[in-house]
Amino acid sequence: MIEVKNVYFKYDKKFIIRKAGFSVTKGEKIALFGVNGSGKTSLLKLLDGLLFPQKGEIQFEGQKLTRRALKDKDFRKKFRTSVGLLFQNPDVMLFNPSVYEELSFGLKQLRQSNPDEKIHYWAEKLSLTKLLDKSPVKLSGGEKQRVALASILILEPKLLLLDEPFSSLDPRATGWLIDFLHSLDSTLVMALHNMELAREIADRIIVLSENHEIIYDGEINDFANNKDELTKAGLWHRHSGKDPHFHNF
Ligand SMILES: Nc1ncnc2c1ncn2[C@@H]1O[C@H](COP(=O)(O)OP(=O)(O)O)[C@@H](O)[C@H]1O
Ligand SMILES: [Mg+2]
Repeated sequence: MIEVKNVYFKYDKKFIIRKAGFSVTKGEKIALFGVNGSGKTSLLKLLDGLLFPQKGEIQFEGQKLTRRALKDKDFRKKFRTSVGLLFQNPDVMLFNPSVYEELSFGLKQLRQSNPDEKIHYWAEKLSLTKLLDKSPVKLSGGEKQRVALASILILEPKLLLLDEPFSSLDPRATGWLIDFLHSLDSTLVMALHNMELAREIADRIIVLSENHEIIYDGEINDFANNKDELTKAGLWHRHSGKDPHFHNF
């Protein structure tokens, strides 16, 4: 589905993604790990065609993903309906006057007819039915995140990219999202920090180092049980709070 080939990316002078290479196959559920600043968000934006590598290339279903390729109407439509990115901060995604309009926005852009049925289906699925007339800015963090997620899922993307989707969810919503993602047919790449949650959903993990290189790509349980790998990735720490012990979740 997606091929990442020796990709380098920088905003200014310093590369913050270096020699990234991996492929994503249909149906895979991948957790993306790495300390703050390691490049997870940037990598998701590269996969979503919002940023473009300075070196190397990314292919989507055999076609090179470049700024120029996305200017082609047919390719853009195919890519934008196939891939959806949920930003970590839902505030940057919500700009319509009501939740209903938020959900209909993408469908309208793609000129899909009869959006009403889909809107009610996804509103029901994400427990948003009662909020459809409300303004998204007045919702709680968790509600906003569900609206943002619904606005992507309604387009039925084949590849779903999620940037720390659990960060503002309460335990009940977290439980619901785990079950939901587990049962979802879409291919999934999600950035997160919680290994327990990651293991519930993903089979494979890609880990970025502080030096912005992929230091592990493989089976998630092998990685989670390997303290050397966890330490190397900075995902294992000892704290000296009330209950000092080692921790990796
Ligand atoms: N828009 C930007 N302009 C310049 N530097 C950025 C920008 N966004 C992120 N960075 C830098 O790129 C690095 C990787 O950031 P990011 O991809 O957000 O990492 P993560 O999501 O793993 O925390 C960080 O050092 C961050 O400060
Ligand atoms: Mg991030």
